[in-house]
Amino acid sequence: MAELKDLWTGHYAGVTETLDNMSAVKAVATAFNTNIDAVVKINGETLSALVRELGISWGELNKISHYSLEEPVDVVKGVFRCFSRGIAEEWLANRQVYDWMVANIGYNRLQMGGQGGIVANVLAVCGVEKVINHCASLPEQQAGLFLDLDNLLAIDENGKICKARDVQRQNDTPLIHWIIEFDKNDVFLMEGHEVVCPKSNRFIATYDPLNSHLVIDDNFVAALENNVPEAVVLSGYHALTAEQGGVELVKKSVPTIESWQKKGALVHLEVASTQDVDVRKAIVEQIALRADSIGLNERETIEVLQVIGEDALAKICDEDCSAENILKAVLTIKQKVGSRRVQLHMFGLYLTLQDKDFPVVPKQNRNGMCLAAMVAAGKAGTGHLNQKENLMWAKGHKVCDCGLDCLRKIAAVIGDDDFALAGIGSYSGFDVIAVPTILVEKPVTLVGMGDTISSVSFIGALKAAG
Ligand code: GLC
Repeated sequence: MAELKDLWTGHYAGVTETLDNMSAVKAVATAFNTNIDAVVKINGETLSALVRELGISWGELNKISHYSLEEPVDVVKGVFRCFSRGIAEEWLANRQVYDWMVANIGYNRLQMGGQGGIVANVLAVCGVEKVINHCASLPEQQAGLFLDLDNLLAIDENGKICKARDVQRQNDTPLIHWIIEFDKNDVFLMEGHEVVCPKSNRFIATYDPLNSHLVIDDNFVAALENNVPEAVVLSGYHALTAEQGGVELVKKSVPTIESWQKKGALVHLEVASTQDVDVRKAIVEQIALRADSIGLNERETIEVLQVIGEDALAKICDEDCSAENILKAVLTIKQKVGSRRVQLHMFGLYLTLQDKDFPVVPKQNRNGMCLAAMVAAGKAGTGHLNQKENLMWAKGHKVCDCGLDCLRKIAAVIGDDDFALAGIGSYSGFDVIAVPTILVEKPVTLVGMGDTISSVSFIGALKAAG
């Protein structure tokens, strides 16, 4: 194991060069969802106090009939569900619940939210020459969450591309999402039941009338017509619901995406956890299928399997998320969904399957993925990527054992003993690339981690050494 680890330290040695090369990427657009995250940490005690205040019984707490926030008790149920399983979910709130959260939950800090906004900040600090971000709403409070960087751009109310932090669209409403975080090993006590949180994670309670209707700023679409980016990092479909016309909204965005691709932009879709099954199916069938690249975590992988007629495999992965099962899942998605590149990120491991003729070659991908692991560890270790130094915070840290173990298992499945050494191989006619990641013992933050990993892997790979 020690030898293999040293070998990977060698593969990680190029991350600084890969990062420097990102400044050769001329322009990237990030869309569609940008919002304000109100982050609050909740512990077992506060959670039981809320349960008592709202008079929720143990039975009711565990009975979930809808995955949306119709009334205050739903917030508590959602938090408890995620706390007890150590999982992340996002549910949509109505105005009444929003007002209740303002009065009863509060927050510790505001930070950039939404995949679009988070990715824009990260790519700008990584040095991409121009990052153009879509905002459905951009009031002063939102603008203040962009990093103070000249290469980080957004569109003002007159359709002009400007420094994002300076734009203030006076009439726009702030879009606030509650990020309710909890810690591993925290204990929730109630009526003789003791529930220990198995993994630090968060529950997101969202009130967002614009992004939840995929409101696209026409000025952004028009601005990109004359400023074609090399790549677009796309997300923001996951909060749509079929009841509110989500399936049609997904379809409606297709021509815009196709127009970017026709002009030469590579489109990466970050799948994100989508509760509404009809919307999820539409995302897979309309967007993922057309995307040049898609990114997902293990949970989202299972959710995609469920809408492509692979329930049995979804169940297997749900019960045992082993490297072997997850490889099978990613391969199935690669074969059935149609995207040219599929990248999974999970605890300790990133795994990419792509077409043999994909314009970014396996070695470039591996370099991008190592950079992403380094940057993700920097985010976990420092809490924010607001300055360039934080990106390389984990330089010198070793890769994790569990990741190396996954690599060996993948090597066995694909029948290539050397796979664990380089993380590059072939499987079922596709290139397969995998890297063990750097784990941070006590992460300061997790929100936005997946978005960061996928976008830095992909954009970092574009100009990486191959
Ligand atoms: C979702 C949430 C947003 C959060 C993001 C992080 O888009 O709506 O509030 O910032 O996920 O990944």
